[in-house]
Amino acid sequence: MTSTRTALVTGAASGIGRESARLLAEAGIRVILLDRSEQVREAAAELAAAGAQAEAVVADLSDLAALDRVGDQVLALCDGVDILVNNAGVHPKVDGRIAQFEAIALADWEFVFRVNTTAPFLLCQKMLPAMKRKGWGRIVNIASRAGRTYSPRAGTHYSASKAAVIGMTRKIAGDYAPFGITANCIAPGQIETPLARTSAPEVLAEAAKKIPAGRLGTVGEIASAVLYLASDGASFVNGTVVDINGGETMA
Ligand SMILES: NC(=O)c1ccc[n+]([C@@H]2O[C@H](COP(=O)([O-])OP(=O)(O)OC[C@H]3O[C@@H](n4cnc5c(N)ncnc54)[C@H](O)[C@@H]3O)[C@@H](O)[C@H]2O)c1
Repeated sequence: MTSTRTALVTGAASGIGRESARLLAEAGIRVILLDRSEQVREAAAELAAAGAQAEAVVADLSDLAALDRVGDQVLALCDGVDILVNNAGVHPKVDGRIAQFEAIALADWEFVFRVNTTAPFLLCQKMLPAMKRKGWGRIVNIASRAGRTYSPRAGTHYSASKAAVIGMTRKIAGDYAPFGITANCIAPGQIETPLARTSAPEVLAEAAKKIPAGRLGTVGEIASAVLYLASDGASFVNGTVVDINGGETMA
């Protein structure tokens, strides 16, 4: 099937990004999977083998100086990205636990912001002109529950970087709505992924006890929301944050 829409999913070699790419591909959308890990080639090949239009781009989003070139590489593959899913994210831990506020090194703070906040900013800038030209676009930024409320399990750099993404998304949503573009965030709670497994098992067990659902979430429970926000049916959903956390936070 030849899709008229193309999605770029960052951090698509693993976890939430990989499952989001899979669901978008299953819906007939052409997907470009970007990741710093070479494993993204295998993820794209798996989708292509199932009949999807899927390509891989290997790039490190923390290398901000290279991002314009990476964006050009993506745009050379398609006639503009219609759906941008800024999913790649990092959350450095020390022996499975977060660094306490006073122990966060400036280099770590800057690294977390580069990947979690500044790369999404630059990719939005790069992809918005084609969305404007087409009069249709969807930006889905994966934030975090830690960017919405206090989380003892999240580092301050991580929480702040995700809160910044939410603020940026809201501004894009308002400014670009007249062009048929929506921008929304998803704020996952604790989801069972390789990133979550960088926390010590006892930290995750403790987390599950605080979730009314009594368990961690699955990648599919986030990816299905990505698919919805990327759809035509979500055209009146704009500038919002979809909290998916098994009821750990109820707004
Ligand atoms: N898992 C959770 O509990 C949870 C909770 C809240 C928010 N999130 C957010 O969801 C998103 C996906 O997380 P996940 O749990 O699926 O993690 P994951 O570690 O399974 O996947 C993240 C992917 O991003 C890629 N990535 C990281 N840094 C990169 C870089 N510099 N350049 C390119 N690719 C890079 C990794 O290689 C990996 O494939 C992240 O933004 C994360 O902050 C996750």
